[in-house]
Amino acid sequence: MDCKRLKDKVALITGGARGIGYGIAQKYVAEGARVVVADILEEGPQVVARLGGVAEFYHINLRSRSEIFDMAKAVYQTYGRIDILVNCAGVARPCPTMRLPEDMLDEVIDINMKAPLFCCQAVGRYMRRDGGGSIINISSGNTRMINVGRVPYGITKGAVNMLTMQLGAEWAMYNIKVNAIAPGWIRTEMVEKPLKSGILDEKKILSVSPIGRFGTVGEIASLATFLACEESNYIVGQVIFADGGWNTGIMPDGLDYIRENDIEEDWE
Ligand SMILES: NC(=O)c1ccc[n+]([C@@H]2O[C@H](COP(=O)([O-])OP(=O)(O)OC[C@H]3O[C@@H](n4cnc5c(N)ncnc54)[C@H](O)[C@@H]3O)[C@@H](O)[C@H]2O)c1
Repeated sequence: MDCKRLKDKVALITGGARGIGYGIAQKYVAEGARVVVADILEEGPQVVARLGGVAEFYHINLRSRSEIFDMAKAVYQTYGRIDILVNCAGVARPCPTMRLPEDMLDEVIDINMKAPLFCCQAVGRYMRRDGGGSIINISSGNTRMINVGRVPYGITKGAVNMLTMQLGAEWAMYNIKVNAIAPGWIRTEMVEKPLKSGILDEKKILSVSPIGRFGTVGEIASLATFLACEESNYIVGQVIFADGGWNTGIMPDGLDYIRENDIEEDWE
């Protein structure tokens, strides 16, 4: 018996040429989906060729609404349907707010907030026509936990959560299931770069992590698979935090108290 969970589904994944998006593309291919990776990276075609299975690259700058609608049309014409949309492309652009230039704010709004909405519009119309689909927006743990100096990122990811709730409610009647994943800390380029430059500090990050480690791309991809397939059909308009418990909000090094005092030998 073939128990691939996304067998023959057509999935469009933005930002899928690297990091979390690439991990989702790998998992979807392994689960039998036909995958289109949409990204701005020039090396996209070579990267996507490594996915194997049925996968292709679509070069796009998601800052353009018309390019997004052209992409949805092209994918639909090629495959005859689009079952899954993953809005994963995103940028962080840390900057003290006092110094935040307008063009930086505009860039983050375009990529993190407007592009997911336009992708939902562009793809949603085909899903509605064909009887439904799954949309997964990649939000961020930063919508509950604050990393200072990331106002554009925080407000746009907050908007992604609201977009998810709005469309989850609005499109459930079309059998279009809209949910979001809010990852904690995953060591992709988005996180490695600031770790290297010192903007982020590994020890500080882990000191507020109940699970005591970074997450993996595979862990986010597994959740994205669950949300894409029928097993999750009663989950609608939800933002699911996959962050090792970061958003429970423990104090820095707060678990030291437990380590020092929760001693097994005390048991009767
Ligand atoms: N890494 C983490 O810890 C983390 C945590 C929470 C949320 N996220 C979110 O997960 C998503 C993926 O992040 P990642 O960590 O894989 O980062 P990443 O930088 O490795 O990947 C982002 C991808 O988006 C693409 N992209 C950016 N601008 C684009 C544009 N204008 N047009 C087309 N493609 C564009 C990039 O080329 C890249 O492939 C993002 O939305 C990010 O905000 C990441």
